[in-house]
Amino acid sequence: MWRERYWLVVIGFGSCLGLLAMSLVWHQDQMTSAKIELGRHLFYETRLSQTNQIACASCHQQMFAFSDGRQTSVNVHGEKGRRNASALFNLAQNTSFTWANPLQTELAFQALIPLFGDDPIEMAAAGVAQIRQRLAGASIDYPALFRSAFGSDEINLARITAALAAFQGQLIAKDSRYDRYLAGQLDALTEFELAGLALFESERLGCRQCHGGDNFNQFSGKRSNPEDNFHNTGLYYTETGYPNSDLGLYEVTFDAADNGKFKSPSLRNVGVSAPYMHDGSMRYLAQVIDHYARGGSVNLSGRMGDGKFNPNKSELIKGFMITEQETNQLVAFLMSLTDETLLSDPNLAKPE
Ligand code: HEC
Ligand code: HEC
Repeated sequence: MWRERYWLVVIGFGSCLGLLAMSLVWHQDQMTSAKIELGRHLFYETRLSQTNQIACASCHQQMFAFSDGRQTSVNVHGEKGRRNASALFNLAQNTSFTWANPLQTELAFQALIPLFGDDPIEMAAAGVAQIRQRLAGASIDYPALFRSAFGSDEINLARITAALAAFQGQLIAKDSRYDRYLAGQLDALTEFELAGLALFESERLGCRQCHGGDNFNQFSGKRSNPEDNFHNTGLYYTETGYPNSDLGLYEVTFDAADNGKFKSPSLRNVGVSAPYMHDGSMRYLAQVIDHYARGGSVNLSGRMGDGKFNPNKSELIKGFMITEQETNQLVAFLMSLTDETLLSDPNLAKPE
């Protein structure tokens, strides 16, 4: 008799624990999805900027894989910045954020730059007090959104940046025709695109050396420190190396060898994220391929003026022969890396 009772107690206690654990997990899930929902509202919220006119989404638009289609971004004061807006997806796979800063490794921290940065000015929010006041005047019930996401309606910076990071974590690009091909759907790519894939993977072109890995943004060499993902690709050769307006990695390390080095960006979605390069200086993919084939770009006459001779240029940019047909095949392959789901998923669009 006492044995049965003992087991009843054990089973009863066990189920209570189980239920408790389940409800905790459920609660966690609820909070995570509430955080994502809040982050989505904030990502599209113009009240986060000084003039109430621009949101993260102004420079990171879904139809352009969360870049902005401009050569360089235009800030809250209508001024042109110096850099091309990064496309945003698969961010967890980035070893660092922005074009040339290996120290920028926290996605949540990254949001502080557009929000408050003064060099460059992007959204120019005056501070969290101002944001709090602005959000209080919104038609969206922000206190309720903060409560569901964090347990209370306090609005602070840690919560804003965590929610933005949670939403940005939802920007996943893994459903291109190339991915379907890899998953075994052999007719997902045409013969023409497959020829482009073979060129991309070829030693002659060497693209994979710097656009390695599943996300096409990793250095594939032997060393593996984060700075290996930064390269000078011979876009420029001026008296200051690269034009003084943007010296790339050098601006962080002050090491002369880093002049003109920028992060290898992912090549996913390049079909919709033109223009290209850190300064948006190239409009077409064929132009990018011509640049690599030549082994650098000419901007001015003479040796100085020709990026091909930039002493900091990566030794991996050697130039190669390529026919027009092959260029078209390579472009066709790069276009097959577009993930239509990312571009059209209503859960990533501006909330109603
Ligand atoms: C005025 C345009 C503009 C606005 C507004 C803006 N961004 Fe950006 N974003 C950029 C530009 C330009 C870059 C590249 C910056 C660089 O390399 O220095 C960038 C880079 C990023 C990156 C790095 C991505 C990567 O893969 O390296 C993230 C993440 C990001 N922005 C998130 C945000 C968030 C979150 C907001 C809103 C709080 C925001 N941005 C607002 C223009 C903007
Ligand atoms: C030495 C390393 C290296 C090699 C090799 C290389 N790339 Fe790049 N790639 C980069 C870097 C770094 C950038 C950004 C440069 C900048 O903005 O100044 C870039 C930019 C690009 C861009 C523009 C992406 C964007 O969003 O702006 C494309 C497209 C591209 N590369 C394709 C290729 C192809 C195709 C090949 C092979 C023919 C190739 N790359 C070989 C390092 C490399």
